[in-house]
Amino acid sequence: MTQPAIRLTVNGRIHDVNAAPDTALLYVLRNDLELNGPKYGCGLGECGTCAVLIDGIAARSCVIPISGCVERDILTLEGLGSRDHPDPVQDAFIREQAAQCGYCLNGMIMTTKALLNRTPHPSETEVLEALRYNLCRCGAHIEIMRAAMRAAGRVSEARD
Ligand code: FES
Repeated sequence: MTQPAIRLTVNGRIHDVNAAPDTALLYVLRNDLELNGPKYGCGLGECGTCAVLIDGIAARSCVIPISGCVERDILTLEGLGSRDHPDPVQDAFIREQAAQCGYCLNGMIMTTKALLNRTPHPSETEVLEALRYNLCRCGAHIEIMRAAMRAAGRVSEARD
């Protein structure tokens, strides 16, 4: 028996997805919708590289079933900005050259965006706390913090 399609709103567009309700959102984004901003890292909700925004809040798409995403606004890195018009958070990460291998950056950027959604002018401590559970194996944390502080409008504080 075929199951009914599940309707998802991703980056402002509606998609009817034919997948089991317990399928992780990450797989649908990457495999069905070809949105490869969110990355597969641990698959356990622990590294943060798969982060998306759901109703403006950072969420780890590898552990969220699509059944829990109906009638929610899902935003991926692709929906945040474009090459020509990057979101200010993306722009800050580019300016600070915060990527080493770049694999973690989706999670770093989306988590920073979520932080700024709820706290437009966070302190360094708040930025650190927000990114605390996003892992970077390259050890580019200093550049990533600088980028997040730039996005928060606190570059001079971060550099002084
Ligand atoms: Fe989702 Fe690691 S891949 S948290």
